[in-house]
Amino acid sequence: MKARSKAQVIIGNWKMNKTIAEAKAFVAGLEPVAAKCSAVVGLAVPFTALSAVAAEAHRSKILVGAQNVSEADNGALTGEISSRMIKDAGAAFALVGHSERRRDFHEQDVQVNLKVKRLLAVGLRPVLCIGETLAQRESGAAHEVLAKQLHAGLNGVTAEQVAGMIIAYEPVWAIGTSKAATPADVQEAHAFIRSEIVAGWGKEAADGVVLQYGGSVAPHNAAGLLSQPDVDGLLVGGASLSLESFIEIVEKN
Ligand code: 13P
Repeated sequence: MKARSKAQVIIGNWKMNKTIAEAKAFVAGLEPVAAKCSAVVGLAVPFTALSAVAAEAHRSKILVGAQNVSEADNGALTGEISSRMIKDAGAAFALVGHSERRRDFHEQDVQVNLKVKRLLAVGLRPVLCIGETLAQRESGAAHEVLAKQLHAGLNGVTAEQVAGMIIAYEPVWAIGTSKAATPADVQEAHAFIRSEIVAGWGKEAADGVVLQYGGSVAPHNAAGLLSQPDVDGLLVGGASLSLESFIEIVEKN
C-alpha cells in the first residue's frame, strides 16, 4: 500500500456520557498511547467536561472537541452554547449534524451549514457528519442523500476551508447497532464523497479533507476499515467509552 500523505484521525464521540472525573481519568490513560501513535487521536466530549479535558490534554497530542454548537453567535437562546464559548473552553473542533441531532432534535441542513460556518469563523475545525438511513439505502438513494447533505452542509464554504475539515460518513443503520458497514461499502461511499468534493471544491480540497467512518467501529473491525485507501480516520461511539477498547482501536492505525 502506498504511504498515506496525511495522518489518520481517530475521534471518540462520548455522546451523553462521563462526569468530569471520569473524563479526566480517561484522558490521563490515553495520553501515553496518543503520544506514540501515528494517528491523531481526539475526543468529542460533553460540554460540561470540555474545559477540564482540554486542560488535562493540554500538553498531549489529543485533540479535544465538542459534540454540537449553536448556529447563532450569541443572544437570548436559553441552553445553547456558541462556537466562541467552546473555543474559550479549549475545543479545537466540534461535531456538526450528527444523525442523532438530525433525527432527535430535527436539525436541518440549513442549520448544519450555519454551524459549520460559525466554527470556521472562529478558527475551529468542523466535523461534518453525513449518512443515509436504511430505508434510503435500500431504495437506492444513498448517493443522493450523501451528496445533498454534503453540498448543503458545505454551502458557501471555500475550498481552502474544506481542505482543513473532517467529513464523517456515518450510515444511520450502522450507528449503535453492532452492524458496521463492510470495509468495501465504506470505501465505496468514501470514494463517492471524495469525488463530490473534487467536483465542488477541487482536487486540493479533496486531498486535504479527512474522511472518517463511524458506525459500530470496534477493536475487531477497525483495522479492516482503516486499511481502505479513502478512509482517513474513524469516529467511534460506544467503543470509545471504555479506555481499553478505544486504545485497542487507536493501536490498529
Ligand atoms: P457507535 O460507534 O456507538 O455505533 O456510534 C457511532 C457514532 O455515532 C459516532 O459519532
